[in-house]
Amino acid sequence: MSAPLYDRLVSLSEKEHPFHMPGHKRKPLPYLENMLSLDFTEIPETDDLHSPSSCILDAQKLMSAIYGCDESFFLVNGTSGGILAAILSSCPPYSHKNVIVANNCHISVYNALSLTDATPLYISPEITPYGFSGGISPQRIDEITKKYTDIAACIITSPTYEGFISDIKAIADKLHKKNIPLIVDEAHGAAFSLSSYMPTSAISLGADIVIQSWHKTLPVLTQTSVAHINGSLVNRDLFKHYLDVFQSTSPSFVLMAVLDKCREYIQENGEKLFSSFHKNITEFRSGISSLEKIKLIPQDIAGSYSIYDTDISRLVFILNSDMTGKEADDLFYKRYNTRFEMCGTNHLTAVTSISDTSEDFEKLAFELKELDREIKYKDNILPVKITERKTKIPLNKVFSLETFEHNFDNSAGKISAEYIVPYPPGIPILLPGEIITEDIIKAAKNYKKTGIDLTRIKDTELKKIKCIKI
Ligand SMILES: Cc1ncc(COP(=O)(O)O)c(C=O)c1O
Repeated sequence: MSAPLYDRLVSLSEKEHPFHMPGHKRKPLPYLENMLSLDFTEIPETDDLHSPSSCILDAQKLMSAIYGCDESFFLVNGTSGGILAAILSSCPPYSHKNVIVANNCHISVYNALSLTDATPLYISPEITPYGFSGGISPQRIDEITKKYTDIAACIITSPTYEGFISDIKAIADKLHKKNIPLIVDEAHGAAFSLSSYMPTSAISLGADIVIQSWHKTLPVLTQTSVAHINGSLVNRDLFKHYLDVFQSTSPSFVLMAVLDKCREYIQENGEKLFSSFHKNITEFRSGISSLEKIKLIPQDIAGSYSIYDTDISRLVFILNSDMTGKEADDLFYKRYNTRFEMCGTNHLTAVTSISDTSEDFEKLAFELKELDREIKYKDNILPVKITERKTKIPLNKVFSLETFEHNFDNSAGKISAEYIVPYPPGIPILLPGEIITEDIIKAAKNYKKTGIDLTRIKDTELKKIKCIKI
């Protein structure tokens, strides 16, 4: 008999040192002991997430009080579920609206679009010299709202996977002049507004719906997220309806109770926890600043590329060496048991949280210094960045069409029937219904060559791709 998944996790858990999600870093939750004792179902005393009227409602109200927002909702299906509900409630089927979509959004946004008949108006963030998306310019929002009418909502990601924050206040102001609600995917910013050491959450800066993955950067269980709503531009009844549609009718009370208790724990101890975290991460940043080949993206990137602010907790290491991100990640793991959240062509991204101790940061600094001494300097090559979406067939039509397989290498000009999604970060480089370009082929092959997982496409060897017959 065997339990392959269980066995793998147990053996990993003993040795692996996570600089990745979830935010508890597999350390005991400091505010909770016996989770099984909380695993209830809907009985009269426990309330019902889909129609909360007692303790769940009270817990959600205490959550919204932190942000001073109108309502908060516990999500047990991650931020993905909240994004689906936010988009569907803004442009439900048969409403035939436009929706402004930043083209660096997570795949859950495109999944939502595939269920609506809304037309996405794609906008590009500015691109940083490192090849990553920067922020969304308020000016760009101004332009697009002047050019189009019938816009049901605008959705952007802030902070980005790399911790870059857009000017939410300015963006919200521009949209609100036209009565357009702003939805912010704040999956990576759950710790925002929880202490004076962290940036302010978009929900306190004028956004109308904000969805946060608490599990990514706070000590809670995976899948726990929170949606916040403010103002009168959101159809709240519809939003609640779609939360109903996209969440289990048996939501885990363990997940909900963990959210509630973590909120209390942070309210009681937040300043102390984040002050010590801030000290550790500031020391870490300055301690490795003299490395020659491994360079952190500096925080003073804020002010350029439409980046308004940065998240100090997100560490993005650029490798000026002939070693790829994947090779470095594997070496860190083999040698030190350290695993990063993500590796790219020439970078490593670490997710840090209040669960990381000064010892964790010291260990990582030691390892980075050792590697920096060993690798040879080489100017890094920028990954090919896809900056434009070339939609030929909308996402809500494409899945019912006939397809055929085509050789990937010379598929430029064909219409894809598949997603190509490097994971992490989960931002598609190709959507079904888009025209395949030479740049996309080049980018996908580059990801593959550097060992980064390409998901959703069936042939991950990139020999073939499914295309739409027209
Ligand atoms: C920017 C962004 N948005 C949304 C999501 C989805 O969040 P969740 O995993 O909580 O469903 C992710 C997940 O990685 C993400 O990176």
